[in-house]
Amino acid sequence: MIYLDNAASTPVHERALGAMMPHLRGSFGNPSSIHRSGREAARAVAAARAKVAALVGAAPHEVVLTSGGTESNNLAILGIARARPRSHVVTTQIEHEAVLEPCAQLESEGHAVTRVGAGRDGIVDPADVEAAIAPGTSLVSVMAANNEVGTVQDIAAVAAACARRGVPLHTDAVQAAGKVPLDAARLGVSLMSVSSHKIGGPKGAGALYVRDGLRPVPVVRGGGQERGLRSGTENVAAIAGFGEACAVAAERMAGDAARVSSMRDALVAGVAGRIPHSSLNGDASRRLPGNAHFAFLGVRGEDLIIKLDEHGIAASTGSACSVHTQKESHVLRAMGLGRDEIDGSLRVTIGPQNTRAEVDEALEALVSCVAELRRVSPLRQKYGL
Ligand SMILES: Cc1ncc(COP(=O)(O)O)c(C=O)c1O
Repeated sequence: MIYLDNAASTPVHERALGAMMPHLRGSFGNPSSIHRSGREAARAVAAARAKVAALVGAAPHEVVLTSGGTESNNLAILGIARARPRSHVVTTQIEHEAVLEPCAQLESEGHAVTRVGAGRDGIVDPADVEAAIAPGTSLVSVMAANNEVGTVQDIAAVAAACARRGVPLHTDAVQAAGKVPLDAARLGVSLMSVSSHKIGGPKGAGALYVRDGLRPVPVVRGGGQERGLRSGTENVAAIAGFGEACAVAAERMAGDAARVSSMRDALVAGVAGRIPHSSLNGDASRRLPGNAHFAFLGVRGEDLIIKLDEHGIAASTGSACSVHTQKESHVLRAMGLGRDEIDGSLRVTIGPQNTRAEVDEALEALVSCVAELRRVSPLRQKYGL
């Protein structure tokens, strides 16, 4: 299989696996235990926390370990907004469901939410975010990079706008972390979500950076782990793997980004040159290194994915979560794409483990699958396909 769905999940890096194994075999202590086995587990968690902190520009004590990006987003959004009655949150229309759903929950609890739009290029204008901030705003949440079209937002400009208005900024950096440099302190971000399985770590681990001095109301309550912000016995093996994946990502980010983006550019150029009536969705340059997101008129994205799968190629239409709801992409709709473009969209996400030969083979498969599907397309006449 040629795996080109790295935005959905990534293969576990050998070094991450190596860091996990001792905690799946002999070393099984609870990090809260006082005895030697417990202390060994606590040391592993502390070492991993330091590596996560280094990747995101945080101090280790500012890192709250969670079960993943979804939980981190819930803690940030529910935790900050619920600290005040009837508060107001500003977010965008192109966020992941893991931001949109907690925001909808807040509305059902009597809080207010403003959702700022994005341009046709998938970029959110920081001025629109600033204009949406009101006297009662307790939090702004703008994603660092989009999971569908891969557009990278100007988080420094959004943070500056939030600072002018004295409102903390949360950024969902699940897709951006480990791919583009992100230094929470330098950017002026107050809360930042990251996830292990998007960067070569195992599933079931993630983190929320919480700037010193901020204290979200906990969502998961119990024994008081993670400074009381996230109770529950730590998933030591997954955390150890996550920490190591962060270290690998930090070491290799610049080289990987250059190699991955050159493969992506070759694919984009190949599609533009060989598949008529196709387009690239999202800004051409302000995007994640591995993201190529296309619209092929006259083709249904789901049919294309099935055809590509028959050729041994794994791709996606967008967010893995939307598969469960079968909804049209809210991101592409917010960007103003037409129905036929949305229906014909395909996301190809390249990772550092992929090779140029794999990408070239995927292009050949794409050319033939799109042509095959267009031969039986009901839109053949409409677009002269
Ligand atoms: C932008 C974004 N936020 C949040 C999540 C959820 O992260 P997790 O799978 O770790 O819960 C994802 C996963 O697809 C994502 O892409």
